[in-house]
Amino acid sequence: MVRKSRKNIFLIILAVITFFAVLSHHIYRFANQSLSLSSTCIFRRQSLDFLSPPPSPPPPPSKPLLPLQPPPSPPSKVLSTEAILIPDWEVLVILPPETPLLPPLENNYLCIYPDKSSTPAKFAGKLPFNGGFSFKCNFPASNRRRLPFFQPALVRTEEREILAGVLPPPKLLLRWNFIVYDSFTTENDVVLLVKGVNNRQGSSRPPSNFRCVFGHDSLTPVKTNVTSSSQEVFRCNRPGITGSRPISVTIEIVEDDRTAVIIPSLAKYVPDNQRTIMQFERKSLICACTMVNNVGKFLREWVMFHAKIGVEKFILYDNDSEDDLGAQVEGLRNEGFDVRTVYWVWPKAQEAGFSHCALYSARICDWAAFVDIDEFFLSPSWLESPRPRANMLRELLPERPEVDRVGQVSIRCNEFGPSNQTTHPIDGVTQGYTCRSRADQRHKSIVYLPALDHSLLNVVHHFQVKDGYKSLQIGTNRAIVNHYKYQAWPEFQAKFRRRVSAYVIDWRVTINPSSNDRAPGLGFEPIEPPGWAQKFCEVIDDRMKVLTMRWFGNSESTMAWQSS
Ligand SMILES: *[C@@H]1O[C@H](CO)[C@@H](O)[C@H](O)[C@H]1NC(C)=O
Ligand SMILES: *[C@@H]1O[C@H](CO)[C@@H](O)[C@H](O)[C@H]1NC(C)=O
Ligand SMILES: *[C@@H]1O[C@H](CO)[C@@H](O)[C@H](O)[C@H]1NC(C)=O
Repeated sequence: MVRKSRKNIFLIILAVITFFAVLSHHIYRFANQSLSLSSTCIFRRQSLDFLSPPPSPPPPPSKPLLPLQPPPSPPSKVLSTEAILIPDWEVLVILPPETPLLPPLENNYLCIYPDKSSTPAKFAGKLPFNGGFSFKCNFPASNRRRLPFFQPALVRTEEREILAGVLPPPKLLLRWNFIVYDSFTTENDVVLLVKGVNNRQGSSRPPSNFRCVFGHDSLTPVKTNVTSSSQEVFRCNRPGITGSRPISVTIEIVEDDRTAVIIPSLAKYVPDNQRTIMQFERKSLICACTMVNNVGKFLREWVMFHAKIGVEKFILYDNDSEDDLGAQVEGLRNEGFDVRTVYWVWPKAQEAGFSHCALYSARICDWAAFVDIDEFFLSPSWLESPRPRANMLRELLPERPEVDRVGQVSIRCNEFGPSNQTTHPIDGVTQGYTCRSRADQRHKSIVYLPALDHSLLNVVHHFQVKDGYKSLQIGTNRAIVNHYKYQAWPEFQAKFRRRVSAYVIDWRVTINPSSNDRAPGLGFEPIEPPGWAQKFCEVIDDRMKVLTMRWFGNSESTMAWQSS
């Protein structure tokens, strides 16, 4: 009798151990499967590996497996999330990186609000700061009438009934315009990106008005001084703490030496992360930083052209593209191009995105070009070259920037018009657009990253450089940027509708009518102006067309970027 029950206990223990071993193995597998569901997921994950800790290995099976019941489905549980209200009544729901998700990520999850209304959750992307996945939900009209707004819970559609009754007390919905939304650790300090404290274009409050607070939700927060406050970028000293677990980090506003306000935060800090970016990566001469939104079809031409003249790494800040960007990036990576993406959904955060990219690229490149995907560098000195060379772009920059004290090189832009095109030219923008305005406009910059000012201050394409360094504008006889700005009507319309530009809120609304980003004479109607295809055409300029035909044309009279 005693023996028999001992044997039973032994069997039960064995079964329990095995059950947990199998369960954790499955959870691990689910977590990994969820990473490889779509190509979008894959490229985001690959490109962001530098920011997230490697997955822990599956536990080794400790005992030989007994024949067992089929693995149980994971227990019903309300996921732990943070949710933030972004423009257009959308809610971004963010999960901690280790959350096991059940595929498919599309059409499998719902947002449930405290009043029991629900909206479908659309998979959005993997965020850079802590590697968490994010989903987007609509904020239902029924919830908009009364403040305060509350966060939804994220549940699997089929568990809705079970979980709706056991939802935890709702938290207040975070707001995109008052938040610490990202952090970035360097050797010496922690950089926080913060909305709602400094005016975007106005003056910034002095660093002494702030302190960084590490672990503000814990019993033992640690505070450090802020060394820079500029636009949305704050830098503070690293705290003297250790540990490998991510802890929260935020800033507080200090008045009369007392905490006046603590800013809500999505950002995390990992004390033991000496560097958030691969420290062993070989430094390249030139990187390119760019904001992208639905530019999949333009990407190959832009990357292939610039890779040949010396851009070695391409860092794309993806503002929530809905096209095939992921597949395009995969394709280019498979062909050996170094293209990375950072998911960047934050509204009106173009300058902050460029500050982020300046920090990122400073680890892996000497110079960074801040250009858009419709802009191509061109030097008259290249026009006779039979083929492109990898040092062409570098030759336009000072040979010894430290000696010459040059921190930034600016190049003027030529703005091209539709050039009679009525649809996107299949052989590429460099082949299709050959007529431009006469006067050159604005400029684009290539920054010598060691000379960046501590503040990371920039006005979109122009950075502040350290004291003692200067910016150098080079003449149009040495270099120019071909900006394919006013493209065939369907392209132009799509671009302006998405409002990627930082200065035109909505091109249909009469705000800032004199902005350079506005098409002169276009008006405010989203309909094709008469004669669009012939507009902005004062000078025929086919230098780039001829050059790229020679460099990238092949015998079937197609361009290299047309075959993929
Ligand atoms: C932090 O700032 C205060 C005043 O602004 C200063 O007195 C203190 O020495 C600073 N602490 C450190 C560690 O730099
Ligand atoms: C991303 O796109 C949205 C919607 O068009 C826009 O409101 C936002 O300002 C953009 N963000 C950046 C960083 O450009
Ligand atoms: C556009 O078409 C007109 C009329 O056919 C022609 O005169 C002009 O040269 C064309 N422009 C370009 C840039 O090809």
